[in-house]
Amino acid sequence: MTCAVFGFAEQVPASERLAHALGVTHRLVSVRAFPDGESLVQVEPAPTTALLYRSLDHPNDKLVEILLAASALRDNGATRVILIAPYLAYMRQDAAFQPGEAVSQQVIGKILVDHFDAVLTLDPHLHRTHSLGAIMPGIEAVSMSAAPLLAAALDASDDPLLVGPDAEARQWVERIASRMRLEFVLGRKRRDGDRQVRLEIPDADRASGRRVVLVDDLISSGATLVAAARLLRDARAAKVEAMATHCLAGLADLQQLSDAGISSISATDSVVSPVGTLPIATFLADEIRRLGWDG
Ligand code: R5P
Repeated sequence: MTCAVFGFAEQVPASERLAHALGVTHRLVSVRAFPDGESLVQVEPAPTTALLYRSLDHPNDKLVEILLAASALRDNGATRVILIAPYLAYMRQDAAFQPGEAVSQQVIGKILVDHFDAVLTLDPHLHRTHSLGAIMPGIEAVSMSAAPLLAAALDASDDPLLVGPDAEARQWVERIASRMRLEFVLGRKRRDGDRQVRLEIPDADRASGRRVVLVDDLISSGATLVAAARLLRDARAAKVEAMATHCLAGLADLQQLSDAGISSISATDSVVSPVGTLPIATFLADEIRRLGWDG
């Protein structure tokens, strides 16, 4: 055995699917919390290459635990430890927007460079920084787009209108639209707070009488899609659905999306979520093999 996938309890089905797609062993990383909240991390003996699988939603404890796991894997046989983080956290804050703010993207990037030989992720939330390599110099840092997976999952039989809620969604909606030969429009967004957005969709009238699919990289609070769905319902869309790479929204936020008129949401299984049902394992495995990280 030269390679194994090491997964954490909360995402075992997904990490097992990756191990299966690669034809390698799966091992569980065990984590125990001390009464004061510290984590004790333990791994089984590791092969030469350890693929450590964990999405970093709710990232603070998870980040500490992956660093401890990486160290334990090296102490127990791995000479190469690769982080497979389908959802990578702390990528939004790429500048100090207010005096005194930490630039978390750079801080977390440097920590990952110090502990991993390579990193693979899906649609990191990079907006002004255009490459993961710029944040993680000196290691292989690979970012994949889930657009082909979302396109493959989209029912295009009734010629839906695709809507990207803001300019940043262009890279997903345009790619899916061109692959499926569908029409798309983009909204304009201004964010006033974590859960407050102001949105316009200049071409919303094209939604009238049609099924509309909102496409975004991330559903976090859901505020963006709630605002978009309201505009599209006002524009007399026959049906509003949504697709995203990552869905971090909790149950209450998902309810708000439903109340806003979004009849179905599909997202990848990058993060544990009731709507995260599109499996990424084969997609990741193909890339891992192409990169030669599977042995
Ligand atoms: C924005 O830049 C992203 O592409 C998403 O639109 C955004 O992160 C969604 O956040 P929320 O669901 O909290 O509106």
